[in-house]
Amino acid sequence: MADKKIDSEVSEAQIAVHWKEEGYFKPSEKFKSQANVKDNSIFKRFSMENFPECYKEYADMLDWYEPYTKVLDSSNPPFFKWFTGGKLNASYNCIDRHLEKHRNKTAIHFVPEPEEEAIQHMTYQELYIKVNEFSALLRDFCGVKAGDTVTLHMPMIPEIAVAMLACARLGAIHSQVFSGFSGKACGERVADAKSKVLITADSYYRGGTLIDHKEKADIAYDEALKEGQKIEKILIFERYPGKYSAKTPLVEGRDYLVNDVIKKYYHAKVDPVALASEDSLFIMYTSGSTGKPKGAQHSIGGYLAYVTGTSKYVQDIHPEDVYWCMADIGWITGHSYIIYGPLALAASSVIYEGVPTHPDASRPWRVAEELDVNIFHTSPTAIRALRRIGPDEPTKYNYHFKHMTTVGEPIEPEVWRWYYNIVGKKEASVVDTWWQTETGGFLCSTLPGIHDMKPGSAGPGVPGIYPIIFDEEGNPLPAGSGKAGNICIQNPWPGRMLTIWGDDARFVRQYYQRYNKDPKSKDWHDWPYFAGDGAVEAADGYFRILGRIDDVINVAGHRLGTKELESAALMCQEVGEAAVVPVSDPIKGKIPHIFVSLKPGYTASTELQKKVTDTLAKEIGPFAKPGKVWIVSDMPKTRSGKIMRRILSAIANKQDVGDITTLANPQVVEEIINMP
Ligand code: WT7
Repeated sequence: MADKKIDSEVSEAQIAVHWKEEGYFKPSEKFKSQANVKDNSIFKRFSMENFPECYKEYADMLDWYEPYTKVLDSSNPPFFKWFTGGKLNASYNCIDRHLEKHRNKTAIHFVPEPEEEAIQHMTYQELYIKVNEFSALLRDFCGVKAGDTVTLHMPMIPEIAVAMLACARLGAIHSQVFSGFSGKACGERVADAKSKVLITADSYYRGGTLIDHKEKADIAYDEALKEGQKIEKILIFERYPGKYSAKTPLVEGRDYLVNDVIKKYYHAKVDPVALASEDSLFIMYTSGSTGKPKGAQHSIGGYLAYVTGTSKYVQDIHPEDVYWCMADIGWITGHSYIIYGPLALAASSVIYEGVPTHPDASRPWRVAEELDVNIFHTSPTAIRALRRIGPDEPTKYNYHFKHMTTVGEPIEPEVWRWYYNIVGKKEASVVDTWWQTETGGFLCSTLPGIHDMKPGSAGPGVPGIYPIIFDEEGNPLPAGSGKAGNICIQNPWPGRMLTIWGDDARFVRQYYQRYNKDPKSKDWHDWPYFAGDGAVEAADGYFRILGRIDDVINVAGHRLGTKELESAALMCQEVGEAAVVPVSDPIKGKIPHIFVSLKPGYTASTELQKKVTDTLAKEIGPFAKPGKVWIVSDMPKTRSGKIMRRILSAIANKQDVGDITTLANPQVVEEIINMP
């Protein structure tokens, strides 16, 4: 809840590690001499005095059918619109416009997880052909048109890019659900987005196994129907075209293999539809503090301009770079910084199917060597895992990164130094980028050619972003105050979502109500964006992000709502109450522990613990499995009956529980502490 006091309940910020100030690392001369941003003049161009006009620089990196007439329409805060009057198409900007110069250049390197399978290289021309044919199929076989939503539940195979860009070509709003989500979670998102078409795949490799993915489509269909949304057609890409590889059979008249149907659309060309800048490109669901995931609805013009500009200046992408972001395209990082940003800049983008540590901890370094990857992008969780099982492996391979990114969660300075020294061979500039699903692109980061790096700190606001830290009363905490508070962004920016899909009120409440003093104000200055993260600003203006202040756990760089997990656990008939808390983990950063108390008549057992775990995996997805299920006789509660998560969190993290005298049932605390 946005209006929650920071100290009233447990927050990740409270239990965050408290690092000391670190020293600086300088970007290399070699990097600087080739960087897209070589000097500080960019911050003059993007100064507050030049806001919002400064963002023309990003919009002008795109091709427009109709030029925009206004940079920022802020007449109805906080529903800001960017580049209004302008018309464009994202598919055209990521493909067609590159054909003249880069037709035969690789757009996508697809690296299958099984190492014995060849890497596939798809040129911009091939991507163009596939996207046109699949657009024709969507339009003529499925009746998809501009403004319709289409849900994708695609794994990391190249067709995920084809499907997204084909939707974008027609102006259909894609909603990609992370492939690790269960069929049920997918179905709920289909229903929320009201999609009539689901695009999925038969199977994919993960951790050495070919997973039957089609079975999730059947579950998604049932779940969506239960919630009142009928999926008319399910389109299935085959992991091996022409060789259906799932055990789950097809349903006649509903399920279609793309490889069969597409034959009718060979050679088809579909003109990209000219769409308004403020039309929607996609929906991306993310967790919040209520049980229901919210769909961040992103625009075409503002979003694409923002991810293109930040890909150029923060990721330092040039068309000749080979860029590898190891995130999953099912999350925002993959949308912005595997697909839209890099392809808008005509880079070669790598899509890796599987687990970074498969079959061993040097797989990423072999891929980097083979493809000559020079820009590398991943999360602290992956870095920790690679460091733990293969600390010296990077030194054995002949690759050279000029640039590396860490994203999604705070990175410990020790882990940062391994990333810089060993993975980056002291040659690469490292950027620690702080942002969110809702923000479309980076908010805080150093610029790789001009700023010194500081381990554990994201850095200052990126060009045009003016962060501020407020205390609980709304007073700004100045740089160097040493105090943590709530980080906000003072100004609008083009990458920010338009709204929460179907819930404007929740959008305003969650992101703006906290520090808005006048809900009627038409002046954007009165509408700071509330990110929901705790942060401190050092004297040098670098921001260090401490973690979520709401009921959201950041697991391996992705958000899980504690309420989502709790309501899933309550689906076990034995469970009476459930409470989820974040626990520090050496690899994943944070993992959820779940405390449950049972309804009368049931007793604790290891089977029941397993049942709770399995239920979370089934309802949400295997990545949501708790680190531990604690079956307790009762929850520590206040006299008004509120579960004290702060105390549960302290116990699970083996910390001091503090004052418990105000509890209604203090004796239960001792009992839980002494549990095996
Ligand atoms: C939350 C957003 C950003 C895309 C991937 C995750 C945390 C993100 C950092 C960072 C410390 C970070 C924040 C944020 N976070 N980047 N560089 N340092 N924390 O997107 O699932 O929307 O999660 O991830 O807590 O609010 P997301």
